[in-house]
Amino acid sequence: MPTADRAGESGLLEVDGLSVDFATDHGWANVVADVSFHVGQGEIVGLVGESGSGKTVTGLSILGLVPSPPGRLAGGSVRFEGRNLTGMSERQLRDIRGNDIAMIFQEPMTSLNPAFTVGDQISETFRRHRGGSRRAATARAVEVLELVGIPNATKRVEAYPHEFSGGMRQRVMIAMALTCEPKILIADEPTTALDVTIQAQILELLSSMRDTIGMGVLLITHDLGVVAEVCDRVVVMYAGQVVERSPVGPLFDEPRMPYTEGLLLAMPQVGAASGRLASIPGRTPEPWNMPAGCRFHPRCPYTEQKCTERPIPLLAVGDDRHSRCVRTAELELRGVR
Ligand SMILES: Nc1ncnc2c1ncn2[C@@H]1O[C@H](COP(=O)(O)OP(=O)(O)OP(=O)(O)O)[C@@H](O)[C@H]1O
Ligand SMILES: [Mg+2]
Repeated sequence: MPTADRAGESGLLEVDGLSVDFATDHGWANVVADVSFHVGQGEIVGLVGESGSGKTVTGLSILGLVPSPPGRLAGGSVRFEGRNLTGMSERQLRDIRGNDIAMIFQEPMTSLNPAFTVGDQISETFRRHRGGSRRAATARAVEVLELVGIPNATKRVEAYPHEFSGGMRQRVMIAMALTCEPKILIADEPTTALDVTIQAQILELLSSMRDTIGMGVLLITHDLGVVAEVCDRVVVMYAGQVVERSPVGPLFDEPRMPYTEGLLLAMPQVGAASGRLASIPGRTPEPWNMPAGCRFHPRCPYTEQKCTERPIPLLAVGDDRHSRCVRTAELELRGVR
């Protein structure tokens, strides 16, 4: 059922009211709470927020990969090309994973099998979804390894995961995800382990695949510099909730949520100008101990009584923009551009 803060016009991928719980010693903890956004064809959407805000769990939920137990889908839906993924069987999902929707995992070794060469693993994915000869699949493996900048790919295709350095392994993962030219790529911190030159190359590659094959990307990152560089729109999460949704330019110019302002002011280049890195004081709440009212209010410099009383809905605040701040109309928040 559409909610008030529904993601808007139809996207290739539509996440609507997604909620995920985890079993903890304190009972069920709600770590993703009524999350809605969409990713259109040829669009790069950034999913940002501090550690523990629920970015990875959101990404995993899309493909039905949240471990259960301890997790459970508590509500909402994920639609891909109009089909409801949350209602699909494991078998139907397997046809979609790696083919229509691919994921680059935050932890590289989770999707590489140490017992097989990277070439075998990439070609297996390719043949499972696309069929064809072994030879053609190996050629595809070499092609995608070259695409992500693995030197000497015709030889390296025969190497095992442990024979690659951390950064190279990360690139192998990216190659694997791109093998079938997915319509949607969920990339969870894809460039975090890479040095800046390689990071720039990978971001360039994702942008060019957006342009050439119209791939939509959900880019999960804590790095707002990366977001500024490649994203079209941004979804900001805090303590399991979407707290701001916006096209990228306006978000950096004029954030509408104090939490976003805090993240922007903590960006290194801004801190460098003042000689010191600003950071948001305090810490994110535990999922079983969420503050009443706005979840950010204990850390927010603009908190008033009304912020503490009842949950704040995501409010429409202008052109394709939403903010979960009850004071947003009264505040003039600082941007960085
Ligand atoms: N398997 C699990 N069992 C129990 N709790 C979990 C599990 N996976 C995640 N969580 C909890 O869910 C919340 C969201 O975690 P998530 O990994 O999505 O955060 P994140 O935004 O990706 O953080 P990071 O930036 O550190 O990657 C956290 O409170 C985390 O402790
Ligand atoms: Mg994560």
